Amino acid sequence: MSVPTITLNDGTTIPQLGFGTWQVSNDEAEKAVSSALQAGYRHIDTAAIYGNEEGVGRAIASSGISRDGLFVTTKLWNDAHEPEDARKAIETSLEKLGLDHVDLYLIHWPAPVKYGDAYVKAWNALQEFKSEGLTRSIGVSNFQPEHLDHLEGETPVVDQVEMHPTFNQAELRAELAKRSITPEAWSPLGQSKDLQDATITKIADELGVTPAQAIIRWHLQIGNIVIPKSVTPARIEQNLASANVELTDAQVQAINGVDAGNRLGGHPDTADF
Ligand code: A2P
Repeated sequence: MSVPTITLNDGTTIPQLGFGTWQVSNDEAEKAVSSALQAGYRHIDTAAIYGNEEGVGRAIASSGISRDGLFVTTKLWNDAHEPEDARKAIETSLEKLGLDHVDLYLIHWPAPVKYGDAYVKAWNALQEFKSEGLTRSIGVSNFQPEHLDHLEGETPVVDQVEMHPTFNQAELRAELAKRSITPEAWSPLGQSKDLQDATITKIADELGVTPAQAIIRWHLQIGNIVIPKSVTPARIEQNLASANVELTDAQVQAINGVDAGNRLGGHPDTADF
């Protein structure tokens, strides 16, 4: 299985297809991440708020895979944007994961409704964590262009946002491209809702692949980092095998046309958590 890599704007490389763990409980995480690592995933995405960093850490420890061969992302929760809180948060995440550094640390949401512009202070803290070696790269999640405008110093390497065929974020992706920020898709399958879309199922049939594989391959071909989540071993393997599928340009364009503004999660400007 050959998963493509992307070189981020700070020169580090990331496997473009990773394993997502949102809505995987701590108990399930060890099993799911172990299945993923066994299948060949080398990029795991978690977050403090998911409550599963210990399970993820146990799977990493028992995998026998060298630390250098793995890319691990975790995220700073919204209530810890003040620098001292952020430091405690990354230390706690590293302890739970059983790691001395992560590969990518993200501000999970800008959270302006509840915490104002504290995310700007959090960004300064992340730059310190990077220089101290607690994380190799730093980025953001759920940031709109106006939030990016307020950040000083380094440019985030990624913006991890909700993206799937019925919510393809074309405008935001164009804005990120201008800023050399790589788009990363959460809920890349639309939490499984986009799997039934008629255009997707038609293209999957044409290619002799599953709808999930057609969607994951579309993300790869339009340049997204993609982190599908599954707790089902056969799906975990199937999703990774999307790396071997190839869509024609016409099929990519057809999936681009599926967009319906179908946001499933919170809006970064109005989310009140
Ligand atoms: P499960 O975890 O029970 O296997 P997203 O990554 O967009 O949030 O989507 C996750 C959802 O999609 C989960 O409900 C997951 O189910 C389901 N899913 C993941 N991979 C596949 C697949 N290959 N086929 C069908 N459903 C899938």
